[in-house]
Amino acid sequence: MQTYADFHRQSIEDRDAFWAEQAKRIEWETPPQQICDYSNPPFARWFVGGRTNLCHNAVDRHARDRGDATALIAVSTETNTEKSYSFSELQREVERMAASLQSLGVQQGDRVLIYMPMIAEACFAMLACTRIGAIHSVVFGGFASGSLSTRIDDAQPKVIVSADGGSRGGKPVPYKPLLDEAINLASHKPDAVLLVDRGLTAMQLVEGRDHIWSDLRTKHMDAQVPCVWVDSTTPSYTLYTSGTTGKPKGVQRDTGGYCVALATSIPYIYGGKPGETFFSTSDIGWVVGHSYIIYGPLIGGMATIMYEGLPTQGFDHQPDGGIWWRLVAKYKVSVMFSAPTAIRVLKKQDPEHLKKHDLSSLKALFLAGEPLDEPTAKWISEGLNGKPIIDNYWQTETGWPILSVANGVDNVAATSPRFGSPGVPMYGYNVRLVDESTGLPVETADAKGVLTVEGPLPPGCLQTVWGDDHRFVNTYWNKMEDPAGGPARWVYSTYDWSRRDADGYYFILGRTDDVINVAGHRLGTREIEESVSSHPNVAEVAVVGVADNVKGQVALAFVTVKNSEGLDTEEQRAALEKEIMRQVDADLGAVARPARVHIVTALPKTRSGKLLRRALQAVAEGRDPGDLTTIDDPSSLLNIKSMVS
Ligand code: PRX
Repeated sequence: MQTYADFHRQSIEDRDAFWAEQAKRIEWETPPQQICDYSNPPFARWFVGGRTNLCHNAVDRHARDRGDATALIAVSTETNTEKSYSFSELQREVERMAASLQSLGVQQGDRVLIYMPMIAEACFAMLACTRIGAIHSVVFGGFASGSLSTRIDDAQPKVIVSADGGSRGGKPVPYKPLLDEAINLASHKPDAVLLVDRGLTAMQLVEGRDHIWSDLRTKHMDAQVPCVWVDSTTPSYTLYTSGTTGKPKGVQRDTGGYCVALATSIPYIYGGKPGETFFSTSDIGWVVGHSYIIYGPLIGGMATIMYEGLPTQGFDHQPDGGIWWRLVAKYKVSVMFSAPTAIRVLKKQDPEHLKKHDLSSLKALFLAGEPLDEPTAKWISEGLNGKPIIDNYWQTETGWPILSVANGVDNVAATSPRFGSPGVPMYGYNVRLVDESTGLPVETADAKGVLTVEGPLPPGCLQTVWGDDHRFVNTYWNKMEDPAGGPARWVYSTYDWSRRDADGYYFILGRTDDVINVAGHRLGTREIEESVSSHPNVAEVAVVGVADNVKGQVALAFVTVKNSEGLDTEEQRAALEKEIMRQVDADLGAVARPARVHIVTALPKTRSGKLLRRALQAVAEGRDPGDLTTIDDPSSLLNIKSMVS
């Protein structure tokens, strides 16, 4: 039996041999000639010369070997539907979708934007794209026209796949009007829009542009569309994520590296086996949805559940705080993945809901996306009768865990979880803590540093920022010259603070930048500020993330107005606050809506005019704002303090 530390060391010190072995977990049309080409750092090219296809590995290979095994289970408590697809059935649906996309002009390398609720067709669309070598770009269905139009302009999709709407708590949520508005706002216009008509909300079709999925599906009922073998380094998808600027970054993923990384993570990290069921409660609009609703479980030969609905409402729209556990019992889920926020929501429910169902199939619950607090971890661990609750830490950029607990398979020993820590570096990640200002390693146990990864990043991580190599290098990488004259080292920054204890366990201490995490959703404060500032009476705005018991963080906006006439009463200010919130809803979507908009007379700034964001955040959280020697007008902060307390 090999220790995990040895296994990890081999992945770094004997990188190519390690990943050459792992590459055998997937099927290649042509095997790779070179494992990692790092001749142009920080760009890493994995499995060079290899040709493969994500859809082949997720669907066709299993359809060929175990065609009747369940692949996709689409459950909607919103529309009271449950439907399972075997691997063979999934392949046929994907071929129909692929043929439909081709009939709308989609070719290899074209982008297809997917703006959809959590329905089976969204899965067909993603797989259909990778099947034919088109690049998908899924945009979270909760985003509004402003966010959607920026992404349309950046991705320049040939076709957009969408639906009439989603549904939340039994109420239809129209998508089509938001999509039409986004296309209007965007400079790039797609050639065609393919719409799933769920019969939830009426749709105005645009003649010549809009097509209905059921029509095209019928037309392509018997279509056979072979998987297109692509070079391992060919982009498979882009997924937008927030950073410090208002412009979202398109994280670009390759094909072979991602496929191998996911195929490896299913046994080593998540402990999943072919034939078992994986249930991730995330959404296809986020990275967890890409890696652990769609690709990971399917590549691993597992069935995956797509769930549309609230965690607290069951079938027939009846309150059911145990709906997830009902599904775990019914579909014999072995691996479950969620976010701490979701568990905090469930905590308000009677714990008996957990006990009512037979959870014997469940091996572990994985939580990621935001810090896992002790009361939440304890509550769920007790509720699940001591089943392992595993915190894992990663990012949209990496696509799979940086820190987690090793599961212990294939002669590699497991690591044990440690409370409050998402664990130890996963194989392939050469993690280092560095001092923010000097860039030097932080070696002392429990000292705080920035969590970085020395290049090359392992397979599956972002290749670059879509269309902007410069931004990729400038945003994420630091070049560290070797004082002894050796080759420079390139270091990737996660933008997270962290500390490591004496035993090598890492603890995440929050972001170093202006990204906030609301209910597990990553949002850029700059994007929210841009939307707030577009209100005609807003002069200046600062948005900060503030600790919240349920959502982890919420956004608070502080604004100064151009004209304070008519803002004398509480009601008048409340009306303006509502207008600003509506503005954010319309631009970005309700997920980004600040919890409060405080109208203030001045924002705290330094004498040189720089906003004292951290001081503002500290005051809003009722903490000491720290050193204020540089503040221009101390009364600005005092006013804010009286307002939020
Ligand atoms: O700040 C870290 C936080 O979420 C960020 C990444 O968010 P996103 O790109 O949406 O990817 C989520 C993938 C699970 C990180 O930079 N974060 C993620 N996981 C954890 C976490 N913070 C604390 N503990 C975690 N387990």
